[in-house]
Amino acid sequence: MTPERAPERVREMFSDLAPRYDRLNRVLSLGLDQGWRRRTVRLLGLPPGARVLDLCAGTGDLAVAGGRFGWQVHAADFSHAMLAAGRGKGGAAAPRSLVQADATRLPFADGVFDGVTVAFGIRNVAEPRRALAEMRRVLRVGGRLGVLEFFREPPSPWRSAFSAYFRHVLPRLARLAGAPRGDAYDYLPASVEDFATPEEFAAWMRDADFEPRSSRRFAGGVARLWVGRAGVEAGAS
Ligand SMILES: C[S@@+](CC[C@H](N)C(=O)[O-])C[C@H]1O[C@@H](n2cnc3c(N)ncnc32)[C@H](O)[C@@H]1O
Repeated sequence: MTPERAPERVREMFSDLAPRYDRLNRVLSLGLDQGWRRRTVRLLGLPPGARVLDLCAGTGDLAVAGGRFGWQVHAADFSHAMLAAGRGKGGAAAPRSLVQADATRLPFADGVFDGVTVAFGIRNVAEPRRALAEMRRVLRVGGRLGVLEFFREPPSPWRSAFSAYFRHVLPRLARLAGAPRGDAYDYLPASVEDFATPEEFAAWMRDADFEPRSSRRFAGGVARLWVGRAGVEAGAS
């Protein structure tokens, strides 16, 4: 594990960024990020009323998108400052609870959720495969997993342009917008290059007893959503 990915360092980094996180996200994703979260909710295939855990929830944008769809969302993140920065967001669609918890040690009983979502979070978790095992544990058989992430995609001209934006433009823009040096935006390009390819991630899902169901590229492969189903035992619905 690189020092940047040590859990304490990651938590500190996001906690420092928390007051500016939403504003920076809107600017740096060129306004695309909220649409990606709404599509994630629609593509998961869970009905209104479903009980969903949004993990690495940060300031709760995906949790609120799920709440607007009618899900009962519980938001968990190990940074209290990130959760606090999003408190009250979404009005009636706000998460039912905000839980400070590490993704690799979830304080929930087995099989209590119909869905688990993670947006731009798993790449930051020091032990992502352990987190996947925890997600599987808290999901019922047949429950849905949705992971929206910047995966390590195969090279292409568009991908090179986007990587250059990530490496050279994004950290400078973040600085101009007031983000501290050495923050999550400096670390983001390397964390993407170090992370799993979509195929490697699918293998991790299988190992954790998820059936990878569908994979969608957003913005031509800038981000990707993996949808999986918990439990591959015969007869599971
Ligand atoms: C890039 S933010 C994403 C926040 C939110 N999901 C979104 O879409 O904006 C990553 C979040 O993952 C959280 N995180 C990283 N490692 C974690 C872990 N091991 N357990 C729980 N949360 C973690 C960070 O605190 C941070 O809030």
